[in-house]
Amino acid sequence: MKEIRLLTLNLKNFKGIRSFSLETNGENVRVFGDNATGKTTLFDAFIWLLFDKDSNNRKDFAIKTLDKQGNVLHNLDHEVESVFLVDGKQLSLKKVYSEKWTKKRGSVQAEFTGHTTDYFIDGVPVKKKEYTEKVASIIDEDIFKLLTSPSYFNEQLKWQDRRKILLEVCGDISDDEVIASNASLAKLPEILNGRTIEDHRKVIAARRAEINKELEKIPVRIDEIQLNMPKLEGLDKAALEAEISRLNSEIDEKMTLISNIRNGNAISAKQKEIQEIEIELLQIKQQHEAGSKDELYKLKARIQEEQSNLSILQQKAENLKYQKKYIDENIQSIENRLEELRQEWHQINSEEFKHEVDCTCPTCGQDLPEEQIEAAREKALAQFNLSKARRLEDIQLKGKQGKEQKEKFIQENEKLQKEYEKLNVQISEKQDLISKLNDQLQLVESTIVDITENPQYVAKLQEKKQLQDEIADLQLKANESIQAIQTEILELKQKRDQLNVDFGKFAVLKQSEQRIQELEEQERELAAEYEKLEHQLYLTEEFIRTKVNLLEEKINSKFKYARFKLFENQINGGLQEVCETLYEGVPYSSGLNNAARINVGLDIINTLSEHYGFSAPIFIDNSEAVTKLIETKAQTVSLIVSEKDKQLRVEFPEKQMKEAI
Ligand SMILES: Nc1ncnc2c1ncn2[C@@H]1O[C@H](COP(=O)(O)OP(=O)(O)O)[C@@H](O)[C@H]1O
Ligand SMILES: [Mg+2]
Repeated sequence: MKEIRLLTLNLKNFKGIRSFSLETNGENVRVFGDNATGKTTLFDAFIWLLFDKDSNNRKDFAIKTLDKQGNVLHNLDHEVESVFLVDGKQLSLKKVYSEKWTKKRGSVQAEFTGHTTDYFIDGVPVKKKEYTEKVASIIDEDIFKLLTSPSYFNEQLKWQDRRKILLEVCGDISDDEVIASNASLAKLPEILNGRTIEDHRKVIAARRAEINKELEKIPVRIDEIQLNMPKLEGLDKAALEAEISRLNSEIDEKMTLISNIRNGNAISAKQKEIQEIEIELLQIKQQHEAGSKDELYKLKARIQEEQSNLSILQQKAENLKYQKKYIDENIQSIENRLEELRQEWHQINSEEFKHEVDCTCPTCGQDLPEEQIEAAREKALAQFNLSKARRLEDIQLKGKQGKEQKEKFIQENEKLQKEYEKLNVQISEKQDLISKLNDQLQLVESTIVDITENPQYVAKLQEKKQLQDEIADLQLKANESIQAIQTEILELKQKRDQLNVDFGKFAVLKQSEQRIQELEEQERELAAEYEKLEHQLYLTEEFIRTKVNLLEEKINSKFKYARFKLFENQINGGLQEVCETLYEGVPYSSGLNNAARINVGLDIINTLSEHYGFSAPIFIDNSEAVTKLIETKAQTVSLIVSEKDKQLRVEFPEKQMKEAI
């Protein structure tokens, strides 16, 4: 076991104590003093030195000395120093808390700028980190506090932490151990199905809440359904059904009636008649046009034909005219020639012989002899006569030929003339014929009458119009009656729908009843499930109770005086985890006297000290309350109120006892 003992504790300007030195020599000591003499302050100084807090675990408390008006006395060093024996080895720790005054440049007066803390281990100044590490290496802060103050466990710790420490001290019990120890828990593993008890309890709680919610809702729903259930008083289901079906067939009949009117027989008969009339009209028109038109077409064709004949004749006549003209021109030119020939003949015929000869020799130019001249004259005359005769004869021949040709042309012309005349007769005959045909055409055309003037046709048209009017009239009447029937149908439908609403109530009622049954069934199922969950919950509680008993036995066996209550029965039969320290059945938190509190605290420290393997000085404040402290292995510093001691006084009980012996 690791052991730490206090040798000295020196305070300087700490929480109003100017200077005090507690010397213990590592023994148990008793410190006496009147109220407010600084007993508790010793413990505060001890804790502050190690952990920067006071004995109530407060970090922020007034270290600096205050005057009677509560003002801080400045410029003091606040100091705590202690010498320990750690496993037989001395260790000195010191902490100095002081104000820091800084002189700003240019200013005469120093200014307060905060605090500093200086740390010393065995007289050597060290950094804060080093210091805290040193303390931590000796003991954990939480454990240290548990072991140095009998009230710490019961008054400073939360119950959950207390419980945790106790379970840690006695060692937990496994679920299997718990189940094995209680036969009624045999079914639990199956129920848990691998879940922890806690988790399963959460599942149960959640499901129970759900079921409760559901169960709350069901009656509300049933109420609602019942409220909305239709009233069937005075309604006869069979009668309603019969009446509805009667109305439906009446509606059907009326619908059929409407469709009959729509396809109305009278109207369709008249429409058929109109179709027949239209066929007749067509026939009349065809007949009307047939006779007169035939003749007209024939005449027109004939006229066309005759006209083309006429133009052929006219063409021929024209040709003849040209031929004749050509021949006339030839005759004329022959006549002109003949006249010329006649004049030529007369001219030649009137020619007389003239002899004017040159009587000189053409070679020598000498006058020729007379006889020679006569002979020449004779010869010339003969020659002249011969030439004249020949020439006349030639002209006569030409004239004869011309006359013959002319005669031939004249004859031909006469022939052409006859032909021409004949053609002209034919032409005029044709023209007469065509003119007659045209007259006839005009006559025929004038005799063709417009169909609208055909009395038969007009009569039929009249008939058709009559029928159309009748149809329109019938349709108008049909629409009126259809509308009337439709109004009737509408009324019938309204009546039927009204009845349907009543009839529907029977179905709604049945549905509602069914729904209520379902809901009731659901309610039963939920209740059954709830019961099952209750049982499971009971089992988990039984488990916990068993575990509690096992645990409490195990824990209590570790303590001499202290007993612990770890669970509390609840009104609803459940169990709640708690952690309450008891002494002879009296709870620490209510009713336990001071002396018992201190002794129970010491008992707990003894067990924890054993558990953690550590022993530290115990500061027993208000120790005057206890006449007999229980035995502890650790060093104790008892703080005792003593009215007569206006200043702290220290006693060594062992020494006194020894001295007394
Ligand atoms: N910072 C402080 N400056 C001056 N006086 C203080 C300061 N803190 C506490 N005190 C006073 O010191 C006295 C010592 O208190 P305490 O140690 O509780 O006395 P005790 O435990 O012996 O009854 C008290 O009267 C308290 O008012
Ligand atoms: Mg006190």
